[in-house]
Amino acid sequence: MTRACIFGASGGIGGALVEALAAREDVSCVYAASRTPPAASDRVVPLTCDVSDEDSLAQAVATMAEQDAPDFVIVATGALEFADGAGPERTFKKLDARRMAQLFAINTIAPAMVARHLLPLLPREGRSVFAAISARVGSISDNRLGGWHSYRASKAALNMLVRNFAIEMGRTHRESVIVALHPGTVDTPLSEPFQNNLAEGQLTAPAQAAQNLLAVLEGLTPAESGGFFAWDGQPIPF
Ligand SMILES: NC(=O)c1ccc[n+]([C@@H]2O[C@H](COP(=O)([O-])OP(=O)(O)OC[C@H]3O[C@@H](n4cnc5c(N)ncnc54)[C@H](OP(=O)(O)O)[C@@H]3O)[C@@H](O)[C@H]2O)c1
Repeated sequence: MTRACIFGASGGIGGALVEALAAREDVSCVYAASRTPPAASDRVVPLTCDVSDEDSLAQAVATMAEQDAPDFVIVATGALEFADGAGPERTFKKLDARRMAQLFAINTIAPAMVARHLLPLLPREGRSVFAAISARVGSISDNRLGGWHSYRASKAALNMLVRNFAIEMGRTHRESVIVALHPGTVDTPLSEPFQNNLAEGQLTAPAQAAQNLLAVLEGLTPAESGGFFAWDGQPIPF
């Protein structure tokens, strides 16, 4: 039985992942970690956790370790707009060090700290999964449009860390699968300001996005650990 943990459980994609996992017979419990966690239910164990605060994160991980450590972890936290409501930069002339640092804190450093605290709890024997939700725009080789400097750079850095963690964990946890995922364009508060010019059929409902991501993870093998995969299972070049 899988013990899952979703960080960002109040988010559009994170919330849908919690619901999808809690409905599965092969999942014994879903730790729903969030600044505002959902109510407890049959398999859902709420955990109050702010991933950008290491003490809060360490406390949540300690609670899981005391109960029954997870073997399937998805970090579904992240931000595209800045905390002051400003949208992503279209030109380097708009770069602002304080805003940039905020975005790196939530998109790069927070998932890294989740890894730092949780990877040691993954079982050495048997399959385990650690996935961070990245974004296709974090692919350097796929970047043809430019812009969105802080978001793109913070996700590219996240992808590098995921590859590093996969290499390190692969030495001791031979069946671990550690990957970055692109969920597609999903109808959530994060994408809401950018949905106007989307072609019909390009916007995915969170419940569908959750099913897509879980199907991708189910199909991945340890040989693919360290990779970056889209919602349809296609590898994305770094
Ligand atoms: N939606 C899309 O189209 C799309 C496309 C590509 C990639 N993504 C990626 O998918 C992931 C999930 O995004 P989403 O669309 O589900 O967004 P969302 O609905 O806005 O949820 C993001 C979650 O991240 C956490 N978070 C955001 N800012 C934070 C902060 N400053 N401090 C601590 N936690 C913070 C919150 O989780 P809690 O409050 O629950 O802790 C929030 O609910 C993100 O990494 C995003 O970059 C989304």
